[in-house]
Amino acid sequence: MKVVSKSLKGLRKAKTADDKVKLVREAQVATLNSLKYLPKMFVSLKDGKAKAKATADYRRLVGLSYVKLCELELAFLEGDEEKAGKVTKELKGLKKEGHKAYIED
Ligand code: HEM
Repeated sequence: MKVVSKSLKGLRKAKTADDKVKLVREAQVATLNSLKYLPKMFVSLKDGKAKAKATADYRRLVGLSYVKLCELELAFLEGDEEKAGKVTKELKGLKKEGHKAYIED
């Protein structure tokens, strides 16, 4: 998560399309690696079925984020800043959804 966040924040300063693509690829790898872990709050889920459902939904959201990061890479490769802006907004929506559901306050 920290790597995803750091890579995406770096995009604001990145000058060339190559630099942007490199950062987005780092975020993609970090996103896939996050599938090896489950959110901390899952330890409090005692019901097996509830835990299985939350796990499947967590993986669904991480998967959607990965897809969006691939779309963002494509947008940079195509030099399409408008598309990049649209996809970045969608990624922020997924982040909000994931954090709301899977981070305990
Ligand atoms: C662009 C997308 C995202 C960004 C930039 C982002 C960024 C972050 C950051 C900076 C943290 C705190 C540092 C850390 O614990 O490593 C964090 C924590 C966390 N994020 Fe995200 N996040 C994103 C998407 C998501 C999605 C889609 C999910 C759920 C499917 C998610 C679930 C979590 C959870 C569960 C934590 C707390 C760690 C834990 O409980 O194990 N995030 N995220």
